[in-house]
Amino acid sequence: MKNIVILISGRGSNMEAIVRAQIPGARIAAVISNRPDAGGLAFAASHGIPTRVVDHKAYPSREAFDAALADSIDALAPDLVVLAGFMRVLTDGFVNRYNGRLLNIHPSLLPSFPGLHTHQRALEAGVRVHGTTVHFVTPTLDCGPIVIQAVVPVLPGDDEDALAARVLVQEHRIYPQAVSWFVADRLSIDAAGRVDVRAESAGPTGW
Ligand code: GAR
Repeated sequence: MKNIVILISGRGSNMEAIVRAQIPGARIAAVISNRPDAGGLAFAASHGIPTRVVDHKAYPSREAFDAALADSIDALAPDLVVLAGFMRVLTDGFVNRYNGRLLNIHPSLLPSFPGLHTHQRALEAGVRVHGTTVHFVTPTLDCGPIVIQAVVPVLPGDDEDALAARVLVQEHRIYPQAVSWFVADRLSIDAAGRVDVRAESAGPTGW
């Protein structure tokens, strides 16, 4: 069984998708939010998942917050830490501590549109396709090895909300997929920093 800690800042719909997926071999050890009012905390609690708040406003610096967050996470002995709409930039020290076991979902087809306001920027750029990316987190923001992406069309008349909603449907599909690959030990990162997804083992074949 692999222990998973999910970090959220708000609505938590990606966390919810991962919980609802009931990934074999995965145990959601806790959901941690940096905001006491994050909507996703209620869903987690109502599903019997322990919740914690590490309020970034209570700490004098990014380093102090990240150290407190890491203490909370480490107490849960996670195999995997999942950023699911966690809207804080993390220090290099924090990211390196969870090297190879920290996933993020980003609402664009990386390397296009790192950072914030991705849907609005995609509309302004006039791209015809947009999407979402699950990647391992490395110190450079939104730049780590890509695990899986999903593409959606940008349609005439789209506004930011319509495009975000189309992307979100795909996020809820690919994030549980990526987590299930991790849990099944199917992900590795090659020397060039690219992710390999091993084929599912056939298991006992019999005759
Ligand atoms: C998601 O669209 C996720 O990709 C994005 O925030 C949203 C969170 O929704 N994450 C980022 O922008 C990270 N930089 P959720 O709280 O309903 O999962």
